Amino acid sequence: MNLDQVILRMKEIVLEVGKYQLELHRSNKFKIDKKSTQTDLVTEVDKESERMILEKIREYYPLHNILTEESGAFEKHSDYTWIIDPLDGTNNYASGLPIFGISIALAYKDKSIAGVVYLPYLDDLYEAYKGNGAFCNGVRIHCGKTEDLIESIVATGFPYDKHISNENNLDNVNNIVPKIRGIRRLGSAAYDICLVAHGVYDAYWELGIQKWDMAAGQIILEESGGIVEILEHKRPISLIAGNAKIIDSLKNEILK
Ligand code: IPD
Ligand code: CA
Ligand code: CA
Repeated sequence: MNLDQVILRMKEIVLEVGKYQLELHRSNKFKIDKKSTQTDLVTEVDKESERMILEKIREYYPLHNILTEESGAFEKHSDYTWIIDPLDGTNNYASGLPIFGISIALAYKDKSIAGVVYLPYLDDLYEAYKGNGAFCNGVRIHCGKTEDLIESIVATGFPYDKHISNENNLDNVNNIVPKIRGIRRLGSAAYDICLVAHGVYDAYWELGIQKWDMAAGQIILEESGGIVEILEHKRPISLIAGNAKIIDSLKNEILK
């Protein structure tokens, strides 16, 4: 697989889709529906973005499997799977907040080998493929080295079933906030992981996210020198991202 070409194609796609997302952002010209719960939104922009991405991936790689947030799995019995979140940060997008992005990853036998995350409003493009390092807007990035929780800026998020499940992360926030320098909740898991790769955040944890939220971020973080540690596969993915030392410290504080 020519991963240089894969990344070029990923970038071409996210730039085009990002342009479309920006045109409609804050326009209130798009319909908003609810999905799994009252707080889990999907907009017409999510769906059209996904359609645009699928069209291109199918044209370039017709024999590969595809997993997308809005349409599910297209199985071709290939070792390669494209994992797509067409709009990560839908709640932000629907409210007019500028923190949202497109996340596209390619996995080989279930392991991310290439990924791009693009934040159209910020015009920040994160990219990485296996063995080649991680980049933001063409500049090499590195995961931070902070080891002490009290020195760290940590991000998290909350699951869409937070109003009906006890595993809603609130006990962890209660426990962790007094022990760190600061907490952030931006509302885009893909971007959160990239910010760890960029050394902006020291760590990020979240319970109950999906493959498409983290597949591109994972390879970007790994290529920046960081680690994604999966805590459990129950709902379906709970993880911590950071350097090895901060992950160990944070893991001890997560009660789940
Ligand atoms: C969500 C965002 C959010 C995270 C949720 C995700 P979506 O993705 O990444 O930050 O807390 O778990 O589902 O629904 O905006 O694509
Ligand atoms: Ca998402
Ligand atoms: Ca999404």
